[in-house]
Amino acid sequence: MNANLKKHQADISFKPAGQFEETRFEKVHNVIFSTAKEGSIKVAKEIADLIIDKQAKGEKCVLGLATGSSPIKVYEELVRMHKEEDLSFSNVITFNLDEYYPMTKENIQSYYYFMHQHLFDHVNILPENVHIPNGAVTPEQLHQYCIDYEHDIKKSGGIDLQLLGIGRTGHIGFNEPGSHLNSETRSITLDYITRVDAASAFLGLDNVPKKAITMGIRTVRKAKRIILLAWGHNKASIIRKTIEGDISSKIPATYLQLHQNTTFILDIEAASELTRINTPWLVIPCFWDEKLSSKAIIWLCQLTGKSILKLIDEDYNDNGMSSLLAQEGSAYDLNIKMFNKVQHSITGWPGGKPNADDTSRPEREKPNKKRVLIFSPHPDDDVISMGGTIDRLVEQGHEVHIAYQTSGNIAVADHEALKFAEVAIAMNNCKDNGFMANIIEQITSKKDNAIDGVDVRKLKGLIRRGESLAATRYIGIPDENVHFLNLPFYETGSIMKKALGQEDIKLMCNIIELIKPHQIYAAGDLADPHGTHRVSLNALFESLEILKTKSFMNDCWVWLYKGAWHEWEINEIEMAVPMSPDQVLKKRKAIFFHQSQKDGVMFQGDDIREFWMRAEDRNTKTAQKYNELGLADYAAMEAFVRWHY
Ligand code: F6R
Repeated sequence: MNANLKKHQADISFKPAGQFEETRFEKVHNVIFSTAKEGSIKVAKEIADLIIDKQAKGEKCVLGLATGSSPIKVYEELVRMHKEEDLSFSNVITFNLDEYYPMTKENIQSYYYFMHQHLFDHVNILPENVHIPNGAVTPEQLHQYCIDYEHDIKKSGGIDLQLLGIGRTGHIGFNEPGSHLNSETRSITLDYITRVDAASAFLGLDNVPKKAITMGIRTVRKAKRIILLAWGHNKASIIRKTIEGDISSKIPATYLQLHQNTTFILDIEAASELTRINTPWLVIPCFWDEKLSSKAIIWLCQLTGKSILKLIDEDYNDNGMSSLLAQEGSAYDLNIKMFNKVQHSITGWPGGKPNADDTSRPEREKPNKKRVLIFSPHPDDDVISMGGTIDRLVEQGHEVHIAYQTSGNIAVADHEALKFAEVAIAMNNCKDNGFMANIIEQITSKKDNAIDGVDVRKLKGLIRRGESLAATRYIGIPDENVHFLNLPFYETGSIMKKALGQEDIKLMCNIIELIKPHQIYAAGDLADPHGTHRVSLNALFESLEILKTKSFMNDCWVWLYKGAWHEWEINEIEMAVPMSPDQVLKKRKAIFFHQSQKDGVMFQGDDIREFWMRAEDRNTKTAQKYNELGLADYAAMEAFVRWHY
């Protein structure tokens, strides 16, 4: 990380925003950490210090608490401090920000359940000191209930420290766009984006409640100290708007610019769109290494609408890059260097081109026939993210293996599984031994959001297995080269996964040792802090660490593709594989084989288009971007970054 950032990082106590040259665009004090874990530990420490300080004075400590993925590590650290360092919660009173409505306490998706699971069940807080909006009050009681909640906060002396997350809509609590500066605790209709973001936890958008009870903006602003947490790439855009943009009801978090003791705690991905991180040359003198120069030149092309070879000295000078120009000599030299770099990333030979000079190619020439192992976190990421490249690898005679890391069973809808179970019974001439009938019974009598039993999960996993084999056969990969690892960390039946364990790593190591690949491809969602893709990638990294001393690993290169949702930035791409229009169609068809993941799937993400549409759009856009930089005009392109282990 930038050394300038490190300098301010140790201390998260409030300082006025925009204090330094590099933060002059910023209107909210923020501290950036390399990882969410480091930031969370600092925040937990500030909370613990406050609790202890209040204890020493014989006072209560009133905390405003949030749920969601952002505060989980803070709660983990507080629980650790309670267990290992005797941090007592006996003087703590808590008020949670919000709750879905309607919602029962027993529902595993309730914030009541969340708070007990992550914090209250593990510390010595008095039950009567815990306040979480009650999602089970009747519509008639609701209005008065909200007034009383507000009153209870006041009666407790007001909130000393309020912990917040931020939604991609810019909501804090569930104060969605349009929320008023003076709003107090009330019921609110959730924004579509908020519901989409919650859809995976609820196993589908249709199950997400449409309403919630939330503290208001005024309620939050009255807190003496506010700490907002944001982790991961998904939050980068809203964080930039909140910190650098104008105050607007369209982004309720911008109201925090008016609060005199607010600090945002960010990891580097959530901070990645802040001016000082994204385009530091606009705010500080930069040390221009190759990485930063590439990023800046691509940015300059996009800003000016020019291709690389058309940039002139003035473009560099006018846009904060005069020191780069001075360092390199002239726009002409800079442009040629950059153009060649981008040009050399393009190859139609992802496994290396036989008998060709490979000095400026992304892949080495030898061995001409490589063993290739492609890891796919779910059974479909392979074709979605690199279907065209797989096709080339197969056609060019490499020995291609696919290893599906997880079963992907929770993403199969009940109605889909039911269809297969009914067909199985029908095929058996109604002589079902009860096994399939039992599965049907389990599916049809399932309660909201309940976890599937083992047999139902098995059926769902087999459906995805069948779809994967159909797709890989279509691309020309023999069945014996398709491996289903079913990593155990995934097998919980719910969105909450287990931590990676020995067994996961063993399965990963076994397959790598079996194939002894010259190339490994994997989903490189480095910025995804908790999803299956990130865990699957960690499983690979841990396995590489174990295996790296083996002799066959000396000749193994690792390439990362991005998962289904994003693409590498052009300046990051080290191998771009062009696709012809025919290959685009072939890839589309391979994705079609994953039928359970078509038409309103359970884990849609923030884009309602089907996966083949998203994939085509993304691959076409990459090709367009290359073309706009002055490179050849391809129909589509898949992109990879090399990982050095
Ligand atoms: C939760 C809450 C919400 C979340 C926000 C971010 O109590 O009030 O504002 O903080 O939706 O959610 P995560 O942390 O899951 O990204």
